[in-house]
Amino acid sequence: MLSDQAGDGKRTSLHGFWSSRMAFILAVTGSAVGLGNIWKFPYIAGQNGGGAFVLVYLFCVVLIGMPVMMSEILIGRRGRRNPVASMALLGEEEGSSRNWQWVGGMGVLAGILILSYYSVIAGWTLEYVAKSASGVFTGASADLVGAEFGAFIGDWRKVVLVHTLFMGLTIFVVARGVERGLEQLVKFMVPALLVLLLVLLGYSMTSGHFGEGLAFLFMPDFGKLTWESVLVALGHAFFTLSIGMGAIMAYGAYLPEDTSITGTSTAVVAADTLIALLAALVIFPLVFANDLNTAEGPGLVFQTLPLALGQMPGGAFFSTIFFVLLSFAAWTSAIGLMEPAVAWIVEQFKKTRAQAAVMIGGLIWLLGLCSAMSFNVLSDFRFLINVDTDGDGIMDAKGTIFDNVDYLTSNIMLPLGGLLITVFAGWVMCRNSTADELGGSGGFYTAWRLLARFIAPIGILVVLINAVS
Ligand code: TRP
Repeated sequence: MLSDQAGDGKRTSLHGFWSSRMAFILAVTGSAVGLGNIWKFPYIAGQNGGGAFVLVYLFCVVLIGMPVMMSEILIGRRGRRNPVASMALLGEEEGSSRNWQWVGGMGVLAGILILSYYSVIAGWTLEYVAKSASGVFTGASADLVGAEFGAFIGDWRKVVLVHTLFMGLTIFVVARGVERGLEQLVKFMVPALLVLLLVLLGYSMTSGHFGEGLAFLFMPDFGKLTWESVLVALGHAFFTLSIGMGAIMAYGAYLPEDTSITGTSTAVVAADTLIALLAALVIFPLVFANDLNTAEGPGLVFQTLPLALGQMPGGAFFSTIFFVLLSFAAWTSAIGLMEPAVAWIVEQFKKTRAQAAVMIGGLIWLLGLCSAMSFNVLSDFRFLINVDTDGDGIMDAKGTIFDNVDYLTSNIMLPLGGLLITVFAGWVMCRNSTADELGGSGGFYTAWRLLARFIAPIGILVVLINAVS
């Protein structure tokens, strides 16, 4: 997929280029579409009261997510290195300082931390492929499906095993080079996921309480909105688009000069948002029809879908396919999460990709053990952030390791990274540089610059300050 011809006389990539505009769009889409859309978005929308939260999330995606994504791609393409080195190089070149490399460094760290728990949840999806195929959910009651889930995550050996399996698969692909195979996989997976979600939507519309689900998701009740949930919505906009940590910057480093950054970003943001909304539209009508709790938390998709599909003809089949596709989606995201760290190790310490993948992957696996055990042996080890354990809207306990790592990365590190990235692209880089990358000074450029200089950084700052204080 990568070729080594440069677009023109500019700085050339250290690793070759994406073979086509489509290859890049597919790689970025593959990183964006993942557990964030199907596992996380529905459960946090449920925990944060639905409608108003969804609306804030959509605003964040468009007004903050878009300009951050464009900034990341343009910085990556101009720097042509891993995020740490690109930020250092451009910081110097634009007359500021090499210290901007710390933004890249924070991204490398965020990627490692996110993948440590992401891999645990991805392991759950692997387990659910096997469970669905075995037919345990066929005709099962809500209690039984809940008990299956509880028994599984309560068994640390099983959770660690599937986490290990998933990390092994991820290390394997990253070691061989992100480019190979990824394109084909994403090309098949995203459309297949879309089709399956549409099939499930059909089922949900006929067998679920569709009106109730629709109202929950799209009728905003601003009384339920706190600064805390606004921060969760903002953090999720970053998480789901894979931005704020240099992953898209790392991919942008391999992008040919003649590709439109605005066009690519628009396509990726639209596909990612569509899939998240579809997933929520499938899940909530089923939640209401089966009298489940909207604020169920991380187990939501693992309980609603098997339950509902267990009652549908051919349910075991659809459920298996669904979790297979979700595992693939998680896999292509995991590859993106490792890319900044791996590219950095390869360039900085002159290691091979395989060595870097094993080193970084091993570290991530080790850290992931803490999150894996947050659901069983370490479930009473709680600190720092407040959480609502029974879904009644009252914060009644401290968070587990998993809760804290998720909160720190999604709600603090990614928005902070996004803030610094837009400040860099909007204020530190001169107009000529950014106009050059974004192709001219037309309406799109002006809009981007307004968002990157003012709306995005100020928006992020206001939310962070209000939510934390
Ligand atoms: N966007 C991914 C998802 O929704 C998760 C993610 C966050 C990610 N940051 C990333 C993936 C960076 C790749 C690179 O599941």
